[in-house]
Amino acid sequence: MEETLIGRLAGADIPETLRLALQEVAREVALLLPSLPTVQQRRTPRRFERVVTEATDPALDTHWWEVYLDLIAKAASEQGATGQPVVAAIHRLCPLLQAHLGPYTEVRLEPITDDTVWGICQLSDTLTEPRKNFVATNAVSLAQAHFNKHAWFRAIYAGKAPVGFMMIVDDPETPEYFLWRFMIAAPYQGRGYGSQAIQRLVEYVKTRPGARELLVSCGEGEGSPKEFYLKQGFVPTGEVDDGETVLRMTLV
Ligand SMILES: CC(C)(COP(=O)(O)OP(=O)(O)OC[C@H]1O[C@@H](n2cnc3c(N)ncnc32)[C@H](O)[C@@H]1OP(=O)(O)O)[C@@H](O)C(=O)NCCC(=O)NCCS
Repeated sequence: MEETLIGRLAGADIPETLRLALQEVAREVALLLPSLPTVQQRRTPRRFERVVTEATDPALDTHWWEVYLDLIAKAASEQGATGQPVVAAIHRLCPLLQAHLGPYTEVRLEPITDDTVWGICQLSDTLTEPRKNFVATNAVSLAQAHFNKHAWFRAIYAGKAPVGFMMIVDDPETPEYFLWRFMIAAPYQGRGYGSQAIQRLVEYVKTRPGARELLVSCGEGEGSPKEFYLKQGFVPTGEVDDGETVLRMTLV
């Protein structure tokens, strides 16, 4: 991996500081690879190659680099001190890639495709304790969607980057509009993407027959998204559903 990537990077039309930072990660990852568990030995080089491809090919219209660097850093962290040089090199690389490829600002809800479904499932792997306890994995949500005729799901994009996932119960017969699953991948949290995704969802639900309210429920305690929902204008209804606090946003 190292030789090929360093060769590719040598000829790429990118800033010199970025080239050096990518080469540093390539070298550190190559040194770490033998210590990683087998599945990570397979995934890590592929993920890093994709990062290099995104950094060097301006024509690519989907960017996974922040998620993939997050997952590589997680795998490295699990190796303790041995993984630290990779974590540190990634830490130096991220702002340079942000400057080169960003900014990602405009938030959109997009259908999931054959090309993106695997990546959307991997977004769940970025979530850390305690926040990961408040949402099912995207893979489980997509499996459930397969068995529910009212499930409506979308990937959340910020610019070229798939940053999250949402799924609602979209039932115009009852009518009921219920935010069932919602997550923003860890590297993208705290940038206002969650808030913008709720705005896009509200715009969508307002177009649906009989839509007067959007409901959501969430667990309480450390890492709970309740505060987030209150900030978006949801108000507790006083009901508890399956141990979760129910909140409502009035749409009309
Ligand atoms: C909840 C979640 C989607 C928020 O996404 P995000 O992109 O980080 O949110 P934003 O950056 O748009 O934050 C908007 C505001 O909410 C606050 N906020 C976001 N997540 C919060 C949390 N878990 N607890 C308290 N406040 C939170 C932010 O600080 C910000 O406040 P500000 O406007 O005063 O600056 C994200 O934290 C997440 O995926 N959590 C794990 C899964 C989860 O809980 N999903 C909901 C299932 S019901």
